[in-house]
Amino acid sequence: MRRGRFITFEGTDGSGKTTQFRILGNWLRDRGLEVVETVEPGGTAIGQQIRRILLDPANADIQPRAELLLYFASRAQNVDQVIRPALDSGRVVLCDRFTDSTLVYQGAGRGIDASVVMDLDRIACRGLKPDLTFLIDIDLETSLARARRRNERIGTSESRLDEESAAFHERVREGYLALAKSEPERFVVIDGRGGIGEVGALIREAMQVHV
Ligand code: TYD
Repeated sequence: MRRGRFITFEGTDGSGKTTQFRILGNWLRDRGLEVVETVEPGGTAIGQQIRRILLDPANADIQPRAELLLYFASRAQNVDQVIRPALDSGRVVLCDRFTDSTLVYQGAGRGIDASVVMDLDRIACRGLKPDLTFLIDIDLETSLARARRRNERIGTSESRLDEESAAFHERVREGYLALAKSEPERFVVIDGRGGIGEVGALIREAMQVHV
């Protein structure tokens, strides 16, 4: 595997992408690679503070443009402080969500123009694009059931977005699939309906082919 690769994980809430992201990180480490794991929003101390604002159910009246700018504020900090330096020193960077999330949640989901999202991407990320993106695709019912079970387990509603309408989630999923179709060389779409081990195996298989 080449040094300095930037790999992102995308998927709807409850798709299992965070679990798979961790599994892949450990697998790559076991193979001797230096891996940096980060997350959007929230991969830095400042990003964590921004994440709290974004996911606080008390902030339900946040305006779409304010929300958009906060996602990119977190990302700009992460790119400069964590992701770029790690890539420059030859590490593999795994990021749980990146600009594709903004394109589908704020873009396809909330109706903000993709061109506006990409203008901000240019400012925040300064040309940094993932080399490879895993889209863990799962049907709406399965993913919502999983998200609900997880929230019950940890005793919170955790994410404001978990309470969004089914139509919103459907737009997000369709938005992801359309993105994957438009950039087939970067995206690997993984069927997320299987068990953890099964989905993990699909991802590792794809890694051998694409990296
Ligand atoms: P995350 O913690 O990754 O949720 P999950 O564990 O369900 O994947 O992300 C938190 C929420 O933030 C999630 O509902 C998606 C949303 N989000 C956006 O709306 N826009 C963005 O740019 C990003 C990165 C996340």
